[in-house]
Amino acid sequence: MDKFVIRGGNPLLGTVHVSGAKNAALPCIAAALLTEDPVILENIPQVRDIETTRKLLSAMGAEVELGYGRAQHRTSICAKKLASPEASYELVKTMRASTLVLGPLVARCGHARVSLPGGCAIGARPIDLHIKGLEQLGAKITQEHGYVEARTDRLKGAEIVFDKITVTGTEDLLMAATLAEGVTVMRNCAREPEVSDLADLLNKMGAKIDGIGTSTLRIQGVEKLRGAKHRIIPDRIEAGTFIIAGALTGGDLNVAGCDTKHLDALLDKLREVGVKIVSNGNSVRVMGDNPLKGADITTEEYPGFPTDMQAQFMALATQAEGTSVITENIFENRFMHAQELLRMGANIKIEGRRATIKGKSPLSAAAVLASDLRASASLVLAALVADGETIIDRVYHIDRGYENIEEKLRGVGAQIKRIGEMLPKRGTASA
Ligand code: EPZ
Repeated sequence: MDKFVIRGGNPLLGTVHVSGAKNAALPCIAAALLTEDPVILENIPQVRDIETTRKLLSAMGAEVELGYGRAQHRTSICAKKLASPEASYELVKTMRASTLVLGPLVARCGHARVSLPGGCAIGARPIDLHIKGLEQLGAKITQEHGYVEARTDRLKGAEIVFDKITVTGTEDLLMAATLAEGVTVMRNCAREPEVSDLADLLNKMGAKIDGIGTSTLRIQGVEKLRGAKHRIIPDRIEAGTFIIAGALTGGDLNVAGCDTKHLDALLDKLREVGVKIVSNGNSVRVMGDNPLKGADITTEEYPGFPTDMQAQFMALATQAEGTSVITENIFENRFMHAQELLRMGANIKIEGRRATIKGKSPLSAAAVLASDLRASASLVLAALVADGETIIDRVYHIDRGYENIEEKLRGVGAQIKRIGEMLPKRGTASA
């Protein structure tokens, strides 16, 4: 299993470029299942979850070409033939977002068999709202042997009100509704930019979606969708992670290729903490020469402070003077990074969904363990300012959602290297 070795103390200086958004790319790739025509997606991040999705769609019979036309970040998906509209447990257990194929498959093929996603480090994360919405659209749902099966002759438009705001639930049902007969109105939808990016792609494919960016989406079903070409939006969470890295290390970092319209809640909070930030349309310059002071955050659905930035903010809070209180409202177990930060010298107290951080605590390097995607980002940030050499194990978590993070960080002055499992040389006894 790969590890990162990071020696703290270097300010990050220069420009780092943001990749395409993983959480927009995943639903957009799934949307290609809705048509027989090829869908070309640009600005696809080269991260592990995209490779998993390629395997998932290929196993169904779709042709997925990553690096289409030798352009690294472009992919072509053609789901002309879908031999088996299934998502196996083997793949779903490695990526719960595989449930995004449920809606498109049952809408396109009239049948879908998708493994229920297992538990997850950050919470139970059920998909009951996805299933309830599909039933409202007329799908017959059965659940057995750990799989959910959906069948229909043709989905029918319905009024759907989400009991809770769910990002992939909104995306799953939005895709299903595009091919349903009649009109579907969905209320209390997620408003994340990734949902809007998916809706933009679907409309390019011939769908009829109104209300994009609002919590009420109205979809007029159509008979068929066509292929399209679409550029994925920049990853706001990757951008936010690098912005905090620049602040934490006392650097002067230009985070380029982001969409600053998606970063309002984060940038407002960082300015409250005392971070110097200059943002224009597609880049943010962060200067970390100001002393940081503690501030409170509560994670909320977009446009509130994103839960996917909570772990990174906690790392920053350990270096701010005073107390910061973090309330995690979205997931019930998203403080796994706190235990590892404590081992590096942070002063953090966890009570249920609330974490209280007292700073400024000098951090010292330690051997730490990544537990999930954003927790591992938090540990990288802490290691960038810790005294000494931190070793982070299980960095496959970070590879799921950050493209070449060690190269990008090294490019702006971080001392970070990846050490992989040294495979025994041929002929030598394995260790
Ligand atoms: C998406 O997950 C993101 N993943 C997550 O990013 C992100 O943290 C999350 O939205 C919240 O913003 C992708 O887009 C691939 P939810 P999702 O459904 O859709 C409950 C990352 O780090 N819920 O919005 O799975 C659920 O348990 C990942 O990139 C139900 O109860 O999250 C949670 O408490 C981590 N029933 C809340 O709603 C359901 O049917 C929000 O979950 C669905 C969700």
